[in-house]
Amino acid sequence: MAHLLSTENFTKIGEFIYRKTGIYLEKDKHYEKLAKYIDKRAEELGVDSFRKYFFKLRFDDADADEFQALMNAITVNETYFFREKDQFEALVNHILPELHATMPTNRPLRILSSPCSTGEEPYSMILHIVEEGDIVEKRDIEVVGIDIDSTVIEKAKAAKYTERSVHAIPKNILNKWFDKKSFGYDLGEDLQGSVDFQVANIFDKAQMRKLGKFDVIFSRNMLIYFDDASRKEVAMTFYDMLNPGGYVLLGHAEYMSRIVSVFNAKKVDNTLIYQK
Ligand SMILES: C[S@@+](CC[C@H](N)C(=O)[O-])C[C@H]1O[C@@H](n2cnc3c(N)ncnc32)[C@H](O)[C@@H]1O
Repeated sequence: MAHLLSTENFTKIGEFIYRKTGIYLEKDKHYEKLAKYIDKRAEELGVDSFRKYFFKLRFDDADADEFQALMNAITVNETYFFREKDQFEALVNHILPELHATMPTNRPLRILSSPCSTGEEPYSMILHIVEEGDIVEKRDIEVVGIDIDSTVIEKAKAAKYTERSVHAIPKNILNKWFDKKSFGYDLGEDLQGSVDFQVANIFDKAQMRKLGKFDVIFSRNMLIYFDDASRKEVAMTFYDMLNPGGYVLLGHAEYMSRIVSVFNAKKVDNTLIYQK
């Protein structure tokens, strides 16, 4: 059976998604998945054409539920604990001690995980902070995790993980901070609530402003889904959200020097970090 979404309309909805989220969908890679989603969603809504679905998405979506459902369907949420572990080591051994020494002492140090997907990245920060160094005894630290996909934020809050998700956590740390269940692991009570999770779109300036200022921003494995113009916009958003002297860390395949030149790049151990 033919899909409701024609290849011509794929371009239209692709532009709409790109404008709202920076996510750039390619016909070869994404048409089939998006077309199947729209067939399913149109049936649920009782509409019989792409035009009617697209109208609802753009003009009849006051609470943005339809847009949220579309986002939840198209995002790629792959993540796991201790992914690119060197960066968590750099955070706890270099960045936080330096910021503790240089930033005003009357406030907490604030870290943003943007995007956090199902929470493994911000919880990996917390695990490194409680397991290594002594920063946790000296200074309050706040960790905030955001993602555009509301289903992953719900999962992050629930903090129930699969064997695959926790495979890179050393056994002693896993046994100490998680409860083994018949399927997978639950984050233990001591660390429940240690991250403030919120649904937010990095391109929504009002939502970003509401989060406040940060000292460290991790933004790993999201920019790869954007084109150059969107990467530049996001990099400048991070620049605005950072306190002077604060740092950005990107995924291993992402380089700030190819995007904007406003940050100073430094190397600590094996990790590139970018300072405002
Ligand atoms: C591959 S995951 C990366 C998770 C984690 N940072 C890591 O490296 O393991 C990419 C995430 O980016 C989120 N994302 C994509 N576009 C976004 C946007 N405009 N605003 C916020 N999050 C976005 C997706 O929902 C997805 O969960």
